[in-house]
Order: sequence, then structure tokens, then C-alpha cells
Amino acid sequence: MTAPTQSPPSGVGDPSGQKAARSFVVAMNSAIRAVRLYPVENAAVQKAIAELGSSAERVREGEGSCALRRVGDFLFVNDTRLRLTFDNYAAVASLLGMFREAGIGGIGLFDKPLPRAWVVLLSFLQSPPLEYPEEERLAQLSARLETAQVHDFELFPASDEQDEPESDLDSKEKARQTYVRSLDVTREVITSARLGRSPGLKRVKRAVQGIVDSILTDSASMMGLTTLRDFDEYTFVHSVNVCILAVALGRRLGLSKIQLLDLGLAALLHDIGKSRIPLELLNKRGQLDSDDRLILQQHTWQGVLAMFALPTGGVRPWRSMTAAYEHHMRTDLSGYPKVSRPRKLSLFSKVIAVADGFDAATTTRVYQDSPWTPADVVRGMRDNPRLGLDPVVVKAFINLTGIYPVGTVVVLDTFELAIVLASNPDETALSRPIIRILMDDRGNLLDDATPLDLTVRAANGQFARTIIRTEDPQRYGINIGDYFA
Ligand SMILES: [Fe+2]
Ligand SMILES: [Fe+2]
Repeated sequence: MTAPTQSPPSGVGDPSGQKAARSFVVAMNSAIRAVRLYPVENAAVQKAIAELGSSAERVREGEGSCALRRVGDFLFVNDTRLRLTFDNYAAVASLLGMFREAGIGGIGLFDKPLPRAWVVLLSFLQSPPLEYPEEERLAQLSARLETAQVHDFELFPASDEQDEPESDLDSKEKARQTYVRSLDVTREVITSARLGRSPGLKRVKRAVQGIVDSILTDSASMMGLTTLRDFDEYTFVHSVNVCILAVALGRRLGLSKIQLLDLGLAALLHDIGKSRIPLELLNKRGQLDSDDRLILQQHTWQGVLAMFALPTGGVRPWRSMTAAYEHHMRTDLSGYPKVSRPRKLSLFSKVIAVADGFDAATTTRVYQDSPWTPADVVRGMRDNPRLGLDPVVVKAFINLTGIYPVGTVVVLDTFELAIVLASNPDETALSRPIIRILMDDRGNLLDDATPLDLTVRAANGQFARTIIRTEDPQRYGINIGDYFA
């Protein structure tokens, strides 16, 4: 192979470079998960490592070298900034977080590492020497690799470089970038609180600012991202989703931008008390017994304590603390923690309770096979007073999402199957969202991405299409995320 005469292509313009870079990053993340979940000799680990090796090799063949770096909130493979797409942004967020925890700025490959070398590297990276301060972890990790006789990698120091200018990102990609940054920041806050460290609020506030700006400029893209579900990262993904939903809801309720920033912060941190709950309990699948539940319920007041520990320069985030304390209390105070005196919940607590209830119920659905569609959840919030949600806030939420929230799969009176892309900009058309047809009336899959507005009428003056019921996407093997890429 001849040496390249020019510097390798940069930015996002090179499709083949992007493709190789993307598969390398996705393979890296899958391999890390495999190493974390299974013993090394497991076939799943072997397969993931082989895939990682060959995707790294493809990058090296194309560009002469292979290095993965974190610059600000972006990942670069060599000089190519990775484009975020729906299938890779959870991977990008978790790699960004891993690099930060490991105190490194990236990894370079010297040669073609053998599978053993990859396994050693990934095992070390996913259990970084957290007992050392961040600036010493790189040296610690390098020494460990040396001791394990792995010489195929170079670990780069973390860089303080500023973020790339984001002007060349389109609004969808900007929304995804904001989401990834928020996920990363939430992980940082919760994991460092768990380790007894206190991260500053500055980065958190910046992430919230990004969410508020996105909601104010392109709320449809941002709302679409809340259909992301990830069990492994549940607490972080949930916190970001609740933040987005709460900010969008606050906007509907007429809050000012400053109030939205405050509300967004409270929403992002509403479950920070979970950093003080044992991980085994948080990750427990299946039924919880009553002792488990009592411990889990402590995350409300533990959240207040966790926020007292944040270095905030003397200004306590009082409203965030109140919301952490009250978000499971219910308006009739039948929830937890139990209080003996009558009290009125703060507006932020009521808003966050609705956003929280919605995201938690729609997520449960995905992981516990409960038959609730997002539309059922919304209806339950409206009709079941025992949930203790504020009726005015629920009404505003229905105004926001419509009766069929983003990501709902619906059957039309034309017997077509469709997915809800966004609520209708016409606020009176609650049952007529913007949809995309997935299957024709004979069950043939369609690949037509054209959004359809259900308020559109046919020549005879009747509505062209009307939703007749909701459907369980799993019945049709539909992956909701695919439609929000
Ligand atoms: Fe909670
Ligand atoms: Fe929550």
C-alpha cells in the first residue's frame, strides 16, 4: 500500500471512513460489554474480540493507523469525527464515559493486537484504578499493561481541548449530540457521587442548557430521542429522558427560559439519590421484595443528602432538592417518603412526577413484557387518580404528547400500521399526530419515510386516515429506535 500523499480526510464528509470508524466504535463497545458480562473463554467474548480486531484492522488498512480519541464531547477515529446515528450513540456515550473514568484521552494501536491483548486492555479499562486521582490513572493503567506484557497500545492523556464548533451539525445531529453529552454528564455525577466524590455542577448545567435550547428550537427531534431505552444504562438514560420530558412540559406550562433551566437541572438530578443505593439492588431484575422496596425508596431523601454534598459555591439547588424529595410523594401524600403534616408539592415536583411516571412505565413495558403501550400509560395517568399526579400537569402533558405519544405503534382505519413520529403542531388535534406508515393493509413492510399529518382530509372532506387502536410493536418485531435515526 502506498503512503497517503495528503493528510487523511477529516470532518464528517468521508462516507467510507465514517463507515469503518462507526463499526470500530460499535465493535469496541460490544466487546467491552461482552468482557464485562462473561468469562473470557466464553464464545460471545471471543466473537466480539474477533470482530473488534477486524474492524480496527479495516480502519488501519484504510488510513495507515488506528486511534480512538475523546475531544470534548466528541469521539474521533484518527482524524474523523464520528457522526452520531441512532445505532451508535449509546455506544459513543458509554465510550466517552469510560475514557473519562479511566482518565485517558484515547487509545492508539501500534500494530495488530492479538485477541489476548484486546481482552487485557478492555478488562483494565472497564475497571479503571478509581482509587487514584484522575490525572494519575493513565500512568497506573500503562503500568498494568506493561506488567501484563501487553505492548500493542498507546494510551493518550486526556486533552483539555475545547469542543468542536457545532455549527456544521444539522438539527437532528445536534439533538443527538446534546443527548450524548447529557448521558455522559449524568453518568459522571451519579458514579462520582457513588464513589464519595463531588463533581461540580457546571458541566451538568451546560448539558441542561443544551436540552433547553434544543427543546426551544427543535422539540420534535429531542422528544423522538426519549424513545431510547437501555437497560444497562437505565438510571442515566431515564434521567436524561425525564429531563427532556420535564423541560418540554414546563415549556407548555409557560415557564420562562430561566425557570426551564432550573427545572431541567432538578429533573436530571431527581434520582441522584440512587447513587447511594447498592448497585446489586438497582440492577436486580424481576420482583423486588418489601425490604428491597423500602431501601429503594430511600433514594428520595438520600438525593437531598447527595445534593448537600455537591460543591455549589454556597448556592444550594433548593428546588432540585425539593423535587428529589417529593417526586414519589403523590399529590395526596400517599406515596413516599411519608410525611406527617399536610403539604403542597412544588410545581417542579409535580412536573417531574409526571415525566418520571411516563418514562418509567413505558420502559417497564419494554423490559418486563407488560402489555402497556405509551398510549395506555398516558390514559392511565389521566384516568387513575391513585397515581396521585396533578390533573392540570397531566392535561398539559397530554397536550404535549397527544393521546398517542412519540414511538406509539398504531393501526389506522385504512388497516395500515404506522408509528407516531411527533405530536401534531395543532394543539387541538390530540388524536391526530404526525405518523409514518410501516405496513400497508396487507402487512407488507414499506420503506417510505414520508411523514403524514393525520389532520389531512381527503377530497370528500373526511379525514384521510384515523387511528383506531394501538398495537404492541413486539408483535410485529418492530424496533422503535430504528425510526428515529
Ligand atoms: Fe425516583
Ligand atoms: Fe425516576
